[in-house]
Amino acid sequence: MSDINYFVQVINDRRSIRNYTDEKVTEEELRIILESARQAPSGENAQPWRFVVVKDPKNKKFLSDLCRRGSGRRFTGEFLSKQMQERFKGLKDEAKREAAFKKLTSGNVSAFVNESDVIIIVSGRKDVWDLPFDTSAAIENMLLAVTALGLGACWLVAPCIDVRDEMVLNEYFGIPDGYKTISIIAVGKPSRIPRPRPRLPLEELVFDEKFGQPYYSKDNE
Ligand SMILES: Cc1cc2nc3c(=O)[nH]c(=O)nc-3n(C[C@H](O)[C@H](O)[C@H](O)COP(=O)(O)O)c2cc1C
Repeated sequence: MSDINYFVQVINDRRSIRNYTDEKVTEEELRIILESARQAPSGENAQPWRFVVVKDPKNKKFLSDLCRRGSGRRFTGEFLSKQMQERFKGLKDEAKREAAFKKLTSGNVSAFVNESDVIIIVSGRKDVWDLPFDTSAAIENMLLAVTALGLGACWLVAPCIDVRDEMVLNEYFGIPDGYKTISIIAVGKPSRIPRPRPRLPLEELVFDEKFGQPYYSKDNE
């Protein structure tokens, strides 16, 4: 397979993995993942990211509880603002729709993280302007490295999307005042690889010179 085909395959094969076997991530694999983060671009080459590697089951459980709380709050907000009903309006079966709302607002959807082998907390220097962009580049590098290694990962904002939860997380893991926690990544050996989530077509996403003028049209394919 040519390098470009392999590169495209890794991108396309990446999924958010939420089910894991008991198999461990080796130190060599973990180092490749973290090294991929280190090689990411950052504004002014500030490299504001810092990573806490979490393997202790007690600490993973702590993160799982925070994830449940964070996701529960977020989805409850989406339910109360009717965003969730809008998202699920295509689902006509009322019982199924209710069950989906219940599952999402419980926050349990993000509580799986303690079943992964390793959790990487991604924090960074608050005084760096591009912190969210820089850390996102580092995280995506890690997700692709994970895929290339035959492992699975999920990127989660759940435990730190609410600043109150982020403060609790930072205190627990000793993350100092000048640092903000951006996300966590759960990593392990996948026990189930989900089907690809749908993506919008390029025809809807890419414009020619002016926003709204399609660059690609279905006729040109
Ligand atoms: C910024 C960001 C935050 C996310 N936060 C969560 C999260 O808190 N909990 C979770 O289960 N998944 C989370 N995800 C995973 C997304 O749900 C997932 O990427 C999306 O549904 C597309 O599926 P895919 O990654 O398998 O292609 C997050 C992804 C991104 C990029």
